[in-house]
Amino acid sequence: MRQGDGLRGIVAVDGPAGTGKSTVTRRLAALLGARYLDTGAMYRAAALGVLRAGVDPAEPTAVSEVVARRHIEVGTDPATSRVLLDGEDVSREIRGPAVTTAVSPVSAVSPVRELLVAQQRRIISDVTAAGGGIVVEGRDIGTVVVPDAPLKVFLTATAAQRAARRAAQDGVDDVAEVRRAVERRDRSDSTRATSPMRAAADAVELDTTALDADAVLSRLHELAIARGLVVLVARGRT
Ligand code: DC
Repeated sequence: MRQGDGLRGIVAVDGPAGTGKSTVTRRLAALLGARYLDTGAMYRAAALGVLRAGVDPAEPTAVSEVVARRHIEVGTDPATSRVLLDGEDVSREIRGPAVTTAVSPVSAVSPVRELLVAQQRRIISDVTAAGGGIVVEGRDIGTVVVPDAPLKVFLTATAAQRAARRAAQDGVDDVAEVRRAVERRDRSDSTRATSPMRAAADAVELDTTALDADAVLSRLHELAIARGLVVLVARGRT
C-alpha cells in the first residue's frame, strides 16, 4: 500500500452555473480519493422524469406526484458519476437543453426538494459513517442539506464570464443567448420560496472570474487542509 492525501468529512460547494463548480469539485474528490455528489444531476433526472411523463414543469402538484414515483440513483465515483432514472442511464440526456429549461421550475417544488434532500443526506451519511470523505456540489448544500459541513464554499463569477464558460463547454456560439438563459435560471434559483440559492453565513466566498480551474482547485485543496479535513491514508496497491 502507498500513502496519499485523503479526505475525511464533507466539503460543501454551492454557487450558480458557470462558476466551474462541477469541474473543480469532481477534481478535488478525485485528487483526495473521495466520493463526489452532484446534486444538480438529481434535480435534472427528476426534470427528465417530468418531461417524459408529459407533465408541465410549471404544475407543482403533478410534478411532485411524478417525481415521487420515479427512482433516481446517482453514483458517487468522481471518475464516472452515472445518473439512473428508473434503472436507465440518463447521464447524457439530462445535460440537454430541454432538461436545462425544465429543471428550474421542477427544483422549486417543495416536495421534490424534500425527497431529494433526504436522499442526498442518506448518501452523504453512508460515506461519513464509514469514515470517508465526500465533496458535494449544488445550490443549497451549505444552507440546507448539510449545514454543519466543516467546509462550505460559495463560488461566484460575473455573468459574462459564466456565460462564456457555459457556451464554450456546450459548443454554442451565441454567448448573449447563453447569458440570458444563465441569468434567467439564476434568478429563478435564487428567488424561489424553498431553499433559494445563497451563500451560508459561514461559507468561504470565492470569485472565480479571473481564476482557471487549477487555481480554484488549489484554493479548495488549501481550505480543506486548513480545516483539518485532509489526512494521510493508505491508497491502492504499490
Ligand atoms: O448544477 P446544475 O446546473 O446541474 O443544476 C441544475 C438545476 O438544479 C439548477 O437550475 C438548480 C437546481 N439545483 C438545486 O435547486 N439545488 C441543488 N442542490 C442543485 C441544483
